[in-house]
Amino acid sequence: MLRRLAVTVLAAVGLLASAQAAETASAAPAPTDYQRARYDAIHFKPAIDRATDAQCLACHAEVLRPSVRATSPAGLKAATAKAWYQQTSTYSGEQDTFHRRHLTTAFAKEVMALRCTTCHQGNDPRDENPWSSATSARAGGDFTLRKMVAPEKTCLKCHGQMNYTVMGLPEPWHRSREMFQNNCLLCHANIRTVRHQVNYLNAAAIEAAGAKSSDTCYGCHGGRAWYRTNYPYARHAWPGMDPAVPDWAKGRPTESELRFVSDLLAKP
Ligand code: HEC
Ligand code: HEC
Ligand code: HEC
Ligand code: HEC
Ligand code: HEC
Repeated sequence: MLRRLAVTVLAAVGLLASAQAAETASAAPAPTDYQRARYDAIHFKPAIDRATDAQCLACHAEVLRPSVRATSPAGLKAATAKAWYQQTSTYSGEQDTFHRRHLTTAFAKEVMALRCTTCHQGNDPRDENPWSSATSARAGGDFTLRKMVAPEKTCLKCHGQMNYTVMGLPEPWHRSREMFQNNCLLCHANIRTVRHQVNYLNAAAIEAAGAKSSDTCYGCHGGRAWYRTNYPYARHAWPGMDPAVPDWAKGRPTESELRFVSDLLAKP
């Protein structure tokens, strides 16, 4: 009743259209010019925290278009140039772009549920420098100087080294895996079993794929390591764990980062 009254009053003063627009959040951005779009509030906190992929893609559709050249400028055919990390049992399909390999390929969709904002926490076109202005990202995390993401908080989780020493393995996995039948689950059926409970991974699908081949597990835990360091994973308590915390794990968080577990940021 009150609401209908309000609508009538708004309609009377010609504000109905904007009142309705505010109610139905649309993915399509309002038409705007290039400068305004660059500085769109969606690139900044807090708006970026609620942004959906559809909202980002309304302007950035090009990032998901297949755009790999068939031949390099020097004449190498993409179809025959396979890097070492593409010669794994989980790799399939044609050469594809970085964004598509993380968001649209079959393997990506099977094991992951990444969103634009899983990696992108802001973009300040001024100088891409955290702390540089009142509105820019803050130090310690949203994005690293002149990069568009904070690699140590995103990429490193799936592209770090395997921390084989804390696992008590005698040698790195590529040398010791024979000894363990190339099977992470020999140990991980009972150790650190509370894992992957985050909104950008498909935890059940990972376990199913990992049970068939541990190459899936290794792929994100050392098999595609772009870094020399390893990611200090949160150490979730698991059933049957020894309550004594080993030295290497002192100071480790015991929960995943809030932004990956909170409902606020769950997939729409
Ligand atoms: C209203 C349109 C619009 C929306 C919505 C939008 N952007 Fe942008 N974005 C732009 C424009 C325009 C630029 C500047 C592009 C350039 O200079 O190459 C830009 C720049 C960027 C850049 C830096 C690109 C570069 O090459 O420097 C990133 C990263 C980015 N946006 C990510 C996002 C993400 C993630 C979202 C969703 C949270 C988003 N954008 C939503 C229009 C938009
Ligand atoms: C796996 C992490 C990740 C995800 C998920 C991701 N991006 Fe990116 N994005 C990057 C990285 C890394 C770069 C290159 C950054 C650099 O050059 O410093 C990038 C670059 C960009 C750029 C700059 C233009 C370009 O192509 O290089 C835009 C725009 C952008 N991303 C938008 C998006 C949008 C929109 C989404 C969601 C559909 C998305 N990104 C999802 C990591 C990601
Ligand atoms: C949640 C895990 C995850 C995160 C986070 C992640 N990646 Fe990946 N990345 C993967 C997986 C899985 C593949 C293999 C995809 C395939 O083989 O189809 C991959 C593949 C790649 C490739 C190879 C693509 C190709 O053409 O074969 C590059 C390069 C890459 N990632 C870089 C990055 C960078 C840079 C970041 C951070 C911005 C990042 N990744 C974040 C899981 C991740
Ligand atoms: C010989 C048994 C064993 C095998 C085989 C094994 N792990 Fe582990 N793993 C461990 C132990 C023990 C820990 C540390 C448990 C703790 O937190 O006290 C661990 C910890 C981890 C961690 C967390 C590391 C950190 O820094 O918090 C990851 C990720 C992991 N293992 C992945 C794997 C993957 C992937 C494989 C197969 C490629 C594998 N493990 C094979 C025993 C093993
Ligand atoms: C697509 C990439 C990906 C695959 C595949 C994957 N992991 Fe992970 N794993 C991650 C990420 C990212 C985290 C950190 C998640 C978080 O912050 O809670 C993680 C965390 C872990 C941890 C730490 C658990 C804890 O205490 O939080 C263990 C152990 C682990 N993974 C083992 C495995 C095993 C075993 C497999 C195969 C069955 C596997 N992973 C497959 C990306 C992957």
